[in-house]
Amino acid sequence: MDSSNKELVLNQQTIHNRVQELGQEIAKDYQDKELVVIGVLKGAFVFMADLVRAIDLPLSTDFIQVSSYGDSTTSSGKITLVSSPKQLIKDCHVLLVEDIIDTGLTMQWLARHFSELGAASVRICSLIDKAERREHTITIDYAGFAISQGFLIGYGLDYEEKYRNLPAIYHLNI
Ligand code: IMP
Ligand code: MG
Repeated sequence: MDSSNKELVLNQQTIHNRVQELGQEIAKDYQDKELVVIGVLKGAFVFMADLVRAIDLPLSTDFIQVSSYGDSTTSSGKITLVSSPKQLIKDCHVLLVEDIIDTGLTMQWLARHFSELGAASVRICSLIDKAERREHTITIDYAGFAISQGFLIGYGLDYEEKYRNLPAIYHLNI
């Protein structure tokens, strides 16, 4: 499929402004805390890069990769750990960074996983909150945008591993 079948949802400036706001809010909340920002690969890598540069704190960064979606547009309902953070999580304040939260399955699994590793706290930051399709109860502490429906691509979000490099976010008509 080529990318002509898409409509702009969030432009670069809108995303940039919101990411700066989120960064400032997070910096305020984590003053004097040992903050580890953990990006959920692959979707979060673009957002994560911009977000950490908007958080004016001496934080550390790491990544985790799980698989749940495969190459489809609906969740497979099962989470598998693909790769784990390299640093110790015990007693750290973990901020999980996601591109988009849909059913909540992935994030619910991740939040539990980091609690079990002994994190002092676990909070969730997602650029996009697709709350209408939520099936698993989670609290999104920092949400960039609420978008009700449709399949989104760009700014890290993929469809079958493509379009992550688009600088803005689009609705893909599949
Ligand atoms: P959940 O477990 O159902 O919340 O799914 C979360 C994951 O599904 C995200 O990390 C994305 O990788 C993927 N996903 C959900 N909705 C979209 C979308 O609209 N575009 C691209 N990926 C999506
Ligand atoms: Mg994905």
